[in-house]
Amino acid sequence: MADTVVGANPDPHVTGDDPDRRDFIHIAAGVAALGLVGGLAWPFIDQMNPAGDTLALASIEFDLSKVEPGQQVVVKWRGKPLFVRNRTPKEIQEAIQGDHADLRDPATDESRHKPGKANWLVLVGTCTHLGCVPTFGGGEYGGWFCPCHGSVYDTSGRIRKGPAPKNLEVPTYAFLSDTKVKIG
Ligand code: FES
Repeated sequence: MADTVVGANPDPHVTGDDPDRRDFIHIAAGVAALGLVGGLAWPFIDQMNPAGDTLALASIEFDLSKVEPGQQVVVKWRGKPLFVRNRTPKEIQEAIQGDHADLRDPATDESRHKPGKANWLVLVGTCTHLGCVPTFGGGEYGGWFCPCHGSVYDTSGRIRKGPAPKNLEVPTYAFLSDTKVKIG
């Protein structure tokens, strides 16, 4: 390859016998080849990068400080509703009592919240039957009720009655501070 490049060089003072010049041409040709590969590779690599808006949705931070006890905020995350609920002591107590019930999808209440943060429940707000959005305060377990086909969840978001097979999902999340969580 170097000979071809040297032969094409219009500079009459440079010949293929000049070792320094030849090395330079070798290096230059190598760099050009790498540049070509790089140029070809980039569009493929670039396509593999998630778009900025996808990255933005991958995780969200949420400020809990304005959610009072007994309140729930619905946050959109990855196209789904998330329930962020500040549970009252009564709701927590009922959820702990539910640990001893015959649960369809067994899970303790403690396993569904972060240690020492029993009041905060973060759940994916779609019914595990067919994906409707349940409402809080309906049904006989004091938690969520899905009006679509009558699934009833308790104050831990566990399925207690109706056709839904699973508890409301707990997404991956972490406390960044006492008042801030990162979800996703
Ligand atoms: S989607 Fe909730 S009960 Fe069917």
